[in-house]
Amino acid sequence: MKYIIILFSIILIVFQQQSAYGIKIPISNEFAKSGNGNVIVDDHKSIINVGVGNGINQNDLYKIPPHHQDDIKDSTKKGNFQFNHNQNNINNNNNNKNQQSPQPLTNSRKLKFSNDGKFKIAQFTDIHFGEGEDKSWGVKQDINSTQVMNTILDSEQDVDLILFTGDLITGNNIIDNASIYWIEVISVAKYRGIPWAITFGNHDDLASGQGGSRVDLLSFDIDLGSFSKFGPRNVSGVSNYYLEIFDQNGIDPLSLLWIFDSGDGSCNTKKNKISNQKSFEKCNTYITKNQVDWYKDTLAQYNNENKNSIKWSGSFFHIPLQEYMTVWNNQTCYGWNNDSIACQPENHGLFDQFKLDPTLKLVSVGHNHGNDFCGNLDGIDLCFGRHTGYGGYGTWERGARIFELNYDPNQSTVDYKTWLRFETGEKVENQIKHDPNINNQQSICTN
Ligand SMILES: *[C@@H]1O[C@H](CO)[C@@H](O)[C@H](O)[C@H]1NC(C)=O
Ligand SMILES: *[C@@H]1O[C@H](CO)[C@@H](O)[C@H](O)[C@H]1NC(C)=O
Ligand SMILES: *[C@@H]1O[C@H](CO)[C@@H](O)[C@H](O)[C@H]1NC(C)=O
Ligand SMILES: *[C@@H]1O[C@H](CO)[C@@H](O)[C@H](O)[C@H]1NC(C)=O
Ligand SMILES: *[C@@H]1O[C@H](CO)[C@@H](O)[C@H](O)[C@H]1NC(C)=O
Ligand SMILES: *[C@@H]1O[C@H](CO)[C@@H](O)[C@H](O)[C@H]1NC(C)=O
Repeated sequence: MKYIIILFSIILIVFQQQSAYGIKIPISNEFAKSGNGNVIVDDHKSIINVGVGNGINQNDLYKIPPHHQDDIKDSTKKGNFQFNHNQNNINNNNNNKNQQSPQPLTNSRKLKFSNDGKFKIAQFTDIHFGEGEDKSWGVKQDINSTQVMNTILDSEQDVDLILFTGDLITGNNIIDNASIYWIEVISVAKYRGIPWAITFGNHDDLASGQGGSRVDLLSFDIDLGSFSKFGPRNVSGVSNYYLEIFDQNGIDPLSLLWIFDSGDGSCNTKKNKISNQKSFEKCNTYITKNQVDWYKDTLAQYNNENKNSIKWSGSFFHIPLQEYMTVWNNQTCYGWNNDSIACQPENHGLFDQFKLDPTLKLVSVGHNHGNDFCGNLDGIDLCFGRHTGYGGYGTWERGARIFELNYDPNQSTVDYKTWLRFETGEKVENQIKHDPNINNQQSICTN
């Protein structure tokens, strides 16, 4: 009874504040004591108070992704909508059959090819949540971005991994705790029970509020259940790691995904609440020599320990390599370059190192919202994803790049296909051809 009174008092307060968009309301600790969270709905975004566990404080506020708001509004009318963080799941006591139930993460913490030898990756890039957070257009923009991601995941069945390749948030616009936006972005994966992993872009950690450094955000992401990892401390950046994709039985690793942190360019000495490791924060927007060395050494050691069982590898990060200019200038490419290439201002040889790995067949990045081409240079496909978010510059149609790996056990090979999936649900497999053009070559990375 006490809880019900508190719930209604809060709802009352919420409705009294309807004119303010995106307002965040502290929720009484009383609600958290049950171990599960209780939801209230504000004028635009739902706020959820989660139970204690997995490093989450009982006072923390969360927003429910927009596509679930109607469900929640309904259920608050009837009773409680509960979010049980410990189970990575949401339980709605009201048995609302119409709602799409969020799925628990059921995988065994191993990425695996399916029984028919497939592994599908959706690359979501440059979503830029949190822009104009105190403006109604900012809130709408984030809702739009969530809709894009939902449409893509509704259209693409059986996505095995969502890779967020940077600029998930526009940290420099976020005055509040950036993790609120972070959870909103990754919710599309978490609510559907799809494994996800992230790497950082140049906009992810400029939050003026605390708790928004790269280390904080990556810790938070990992706590939420992602497959992301921390790179070694003595290597530039934070999100440098690899992911293994195993055979259907989870025994032999068949593919590796190399994830790099291409830097943030922010020289701020940001306070780091969680681990106070300022040394992580390097002021670069390129992949440094020590990252290349880390990749080289780690791969050598990996192959040594795994008897070269890898058939195919790819690499994902945010800012394109300089070789993206070379491939566009000199090779036949497929897709658009409406934006020119804002590549990494320094080249410390990652591409040359990739060429020494015969399994490395693909690199895919984000950063340039008007680019979505792929081209092959020296046996490696260099691709742009497709701008996924309504946030960030540009109004090019939003979408995602999809990769489908195929394992052929008879040949003992893995190959892959890629296509674009748009916010309309449209699928584009054959992108427009672009021939090399010696009269119109880009030779310097644009800013
Ligand atoms: C949201 O998307 C709709 C079209 O789907 C568009 O008309 C509107 O301008 C978008 N709003 C923002 C703030 O981006
Ligand atoms: C930001 O929110 C996260 C998760 O809700 C929390 O762990 C962190 O302590 C918060 N940071 C600050 C500075 O409030
Ligand atoms: C980082 O430290 C490890 C372990 O001490 C070492 O093996 C490695 O060479 C170092 N890497 C760099 C780039 O300094
Ligand atoms: C394109 O190819 C030409 C000829 O191989 C080479 O000289 C030039 O450096 C390439 N362009 C770029 C931007 O690398
Ligand atoms: C690039 O420009 C062309 C021609 O204006 C347009 O058709 C295409 O959709 C644009 N590309 C992207 C990535 O939106
Ligand atoms: C592998 O070989 C078996 C037996 O010849 C055949 O039935 C199967 O279709 C082959 N699988 C693939 C992926 O080609």
